[in-house]
Amino acid sequence: MADPLRLSRLNRRHDNPHFFTTLLTSHRTLLTLIWTAAFILVAFWQKSAVDRLLHFRHSWPAAPPRPIPKLRDLVFNLTDFGAVGDGVTLNTAAFERAISEIRKRGGGQLNVGPGYWLTAPFNLTSHMTLFLAQDAVVLGIDDENYWPLMPPLPSYGYGRERPGPRYGSLIHGQNLKDVVITGHNGTINGQGKRWWEKYKKKMLNYTRGPLVQIMWSRDIEISHVTLRDSPFWTLHPYDCQNVIIRNVTILAPSSDAPNTDGIDPDSCENMVIEDSYISVGDDAVAIKSGWDQYGIAYGRPSTNILIRNLIVRSKISAGVSIGSEMSGGVSNITVQNLLVWNSKRGIRIKTSAGRGGYVRDITYQNLTFDSVRVGIVIKTDYNEHPDEGYDPSALPVIKDISFTSIRGQGIRIPVRIYGSQEIPVRNITFKDMLVGISYKKKHIFQCSYVQGRVIGKIFPSPCDNLDIYDDKGRLVRPATARNSNDTDYDF
Ligand SMILES: *[C@@H]1O[C@H](CO)[C@@H](O)[C@H](O)[C@H]1NC(C)=O
Ligand SMILES: *[C@@H]1O[C@H](CO)[C@@H](O)[C@H](O)[C@H]1NC(C)=O
Ligand SMILES: *[C@@H]1O[C@H](CO)[C@@H](O)[C@H](O)[C@H]1NC(C)=O
Ligand SMILES: *[C@@H]1O[C@H](CO)[C@@H](O)[C@H](O)[C@H]1NC(C)=O
Ligand SMILES: *[C@@H]1O[C@H](CO)[C@@H](O)[C@H](O)[C@H]1NC(C)=O
Ligand SMILES: *[C@@H]1O[C@H](CO)[C@@H](O)[C@H](O)[C@H]1NC(C)=O
Ligand SMILES: *[C@@H]1O[C@H](CO)[C@@H](O)[C@H](O)[C@H]1NC(C)=O
Ligand SMILES: *[C@@H]1O[C@H](CO)[C@@H](O)[C@H](O)[C@H]1NC(C)=O
Ligand SMILES: *[C@@H]1O[C@H](CO)[C@@H](O)[C@H](O)[C@H]1NC(C)=O
Repeated sequence: MADPLRLSRLNRRHDNPHFFTTLLTSHRTLLTLIWTAAFILVAFWQKSAVDRLLHFRHSWPAAPPRPIPKLRDLVFNLTDFGAVGDGVTLNTAAFERAISEIRKRGGGQLNVGPGYWLTAPFNLTSHMTLFLAQDAVVLGIDDENYWPLMPPLPSYGYGRERPGPRYGSLIHGQNLKDVVITGHNGTINGQGKRWWEKYKKKMLNYTRGPLVQIMWSRDIEISHVTLRDSPFWTLHPYDCQNVIIRNVTILAPSSDAPNTDGIDPDSCENMVIEDSYISVGDDAVAIKSGWDQYGIAYGRPSTNILIRNLIVRSKISAGVSIGSEMSGGVSNITVQNLLVWNSKRGIRIKTSAGRGGYVRDITYQNLTFDSVRVGIVIKTDYNEHPDEGYDPSALPVIKDISFTSIRGQGIRIPVRIYGSQEIPVRNITFKDMLVGISYKKKHIFQCSYVQGRVIGKIFPSPCDNLDIYDDKGRLVRPATARNSNDTDYDF
């Protein structure tokens, strides 16, 4: 793959008429050009080179750019504020001036045209639409000295990976109303590589910043954009209401991109995530609500969240997770029409003693797992705590969870639900499950401290902890071993 930045510069040079006229004034240059052209032609006989040319053409269509719709009364162009999309000029001041103008005027739309718009973090304002044209790339500067520090999130008490303050997000918003980030699939690129390397070498003194973080806000829409290579979590709505995320693409390398979660709804209410593709270096979606004593004190649940029509991949973690930070509670979550492919886990609920809170009223429907090591996981000993101040007797409640229409192929362990004596998993229902397994062992539907039922046909056959009902809802066989630890190996 050619480096997009270099491609863009190359393209710009050829767009400039002066570049050619200056060259053509000299005969010698003209000769050189002809020779060069001949050489290039010969080179293109090679199939690989022809392929590359086709690819080049494909990524830079000659077609005129799609006109940008007018979505607010007042429309600005980032270039009106002195921005230069060359991938080198720092445009933070242009973004700030543009957004400050929108703030003064009570709202507006900011168009970002094709180009590479390098910037340090900036803040959004209310009643604004950030519109990223096709081939518009907002590039986050990868030098942490440009990233402001912010206080820890109150429900975490900590930066998250480091105590004390944390870096803010590239695109940030607090206490806002009516904010839209959309476009013709333009990109926000966090250039996370240097962050990930520094994190692994323990060269960072503070927690890395997310790509987009919107806090204490309402009426937020993020759609038709690509978010990639975030330094840390990619899209983090924190204590927000009425959030819609649709038709987004979220990308990060599937390994060596630590903590690049796709979307982290955190203490949020009334939210939809739909029609999107996510492939990242950690959970594709992770629903959270604060961490141990800090999350319990903050006390804001994540609730009424609908997640549907997603294709996700997570080689390191899971497709859709709940937790492990869930101390404010998580309830009324629906996950529908989810395809998880080439991943470590399909869906996972993770918690531990000390979290408090609850996970309840969770509905999974029509999940497809394609080459996934463990399909469904509930884990109650995820012992990662902010500090020694957590209360080990703060036990989370895990209950009222249903799984309907589960399909898959190439699954090693379809189900692994590990409750414990202190944190039992209650009222689980499985209905209509049929997955192809890749590992012929006996105990691949693994349970401990689980209570619940299966209804109708289930393959592979369920653990002894569950009551078995037929399609008509008649009890066929009650659970024989409620608290058995039905595992004979681990990996
Ligand atoms: C912004 O302005 C520049 C310079 O006038 C123009 O070339 C570009 O097409 C405009 N872009 C958008 C998105 O309106
Ligand atoms: C954004 O606003 C928050 C809250 O006022 C502030 O802490 C942060 O430093 C601002 N970020 C930038 C980049 O100005
Ligand atoms: C948006 O761009 C991403 C990254 O280039 C691409 O993978 C995706 O298919 C595009 N989405 C649409 C709807 O064109
Ligand atoms: C981290 O802290 C050390 C010691 O205070 C300091 O020397 C170093 O410059 C800091 N690094 C960063 C990236 O801020
Ligand atoms: C949004 O995503 C859905 C599902 O992926 C797709 O069918 C639809 O065409 C997309 N809409 C647009 C406008 O791209
Ligand atoms: C549960 O969440 C859905 C959105 O997924 C919402 O429509 C519904 O009203 C919520 N139910 C309750 C009882 O709040
Ligand atoms: C189930 O989800 C898949 C995508 O994973 C989708 O193609 C299919 O239409 C869904 N089935 C139903 C009945 O909604
Ligand atoms: C068990 O959970 C289901 C949802 O999965 C709920 O409808 C039902 O009321 C729960 N049963 C009890 C006894 O709480
Ligand atoms: C199940 O038993 C094994 C062996 O005794 C033990 O190592 C494992 O921790 C137990 N698992 C749970 C979830 O209790």
